[in-house]
Amino acid sequence: MQPAPVLPLSDDCQHYRTKADVPWDLQKYFSQRYSIFSYYDDGIHLTDDAWFGVTPEPVAMQVAYDMSGSKPSKKVLIDLFAGAGGNTIAFGLSDRWDKIISIERDTSTLACAQHNANIYEVGDRITWVNADCFDYLDRLHNDPDSLHPELRVDVASAVVFASPPWGGPGYRTAEVFDLSLMEPYNLQKLHQACREMDHALYLPRTSDLRQIARLAPGDDKVEVVQYCMKGASKALVAYIPGKAD
Ligand SMILES: C[S@@+](CC[C@H](N)C(=O)[O-])C[C@H]1O[C@@H](n2cnc3c(N)ncnc32)[C@H](O)[C@@H]1O
Repeated sequence: MQPAPVLPLSDDCQHYRTKADVPWDLQKYFSQRYSIFSYYDDGIHLTDDAWFGVTPEPVAMQVAYDMSGSKPSKKVLIDLFAGAGGNTIAFGLSDRWDKIISIERDTSTLACAQHNANIYEVGDRITWVNADCFDYLDRLHNDPDSLHPELRVDVASAVVFASPPWGGPGYRTAEVFDLSLMEPYNLQKLHQACREMDHALYLPRTSDLRQIARLAPGDDKVEVVQYCMKGASKALVAYIPGKAD
């Protein structure tokens, strides 16, 4: 597995200028574009799918600030689901990490993330990977030689951030969202893949806290932070210690 080269923007990567150009189901997000990316007008590009999942900039900045408080021995941050770059850019701006590895499976979305990171002048601080993040983690643990040296990191010095797609029955409507039903990756799958490293999971605000609490290794604690904008929670992040520590 290799780092991604600089990818060209494809026809799926769009910079919408007016509401009239925007598909109807994205218009709500387009009207919030400056809270999503304050540099939107500088030419931010997204795929239509990426609009639904991008972390708004103030939330991404606060998460990056909170992740900066990781133990000093942690030098590498692995962002498993780069999307259009919302979180990755904030991690780059924090200037906390010796290395940031940012993974995205969809080539057009990754091209947007690279482009957007350059707008924020942090593109050269990121090692991009166009691959399945579970494949990457599996190789990191079981077959590190199959990774390019730039992607081969010491697990003890790495932390993971994961903002997976949110879907599954009840995630918009349930008062308490059952994370075992989250699609396409449920809580158990995400936790299993990351368990050796300290990992921060960006999850729906209604997520079942009892399910998260069960992931604490031994007598250690799990911290859960609700991230709000204008008095309303946008998401929670569960900060889960790794087993290797
Ligand atoms: C919620 S979005 C991430 C948003 C991102 N944090 C941001 O602020 O822009 C989830 C992303 O994960 C990608 N994805 C889904 N499964 C993946 C996998 N197995 N490996 C890598 N990327 C994946 C999707 O293509 C999508 O872009």
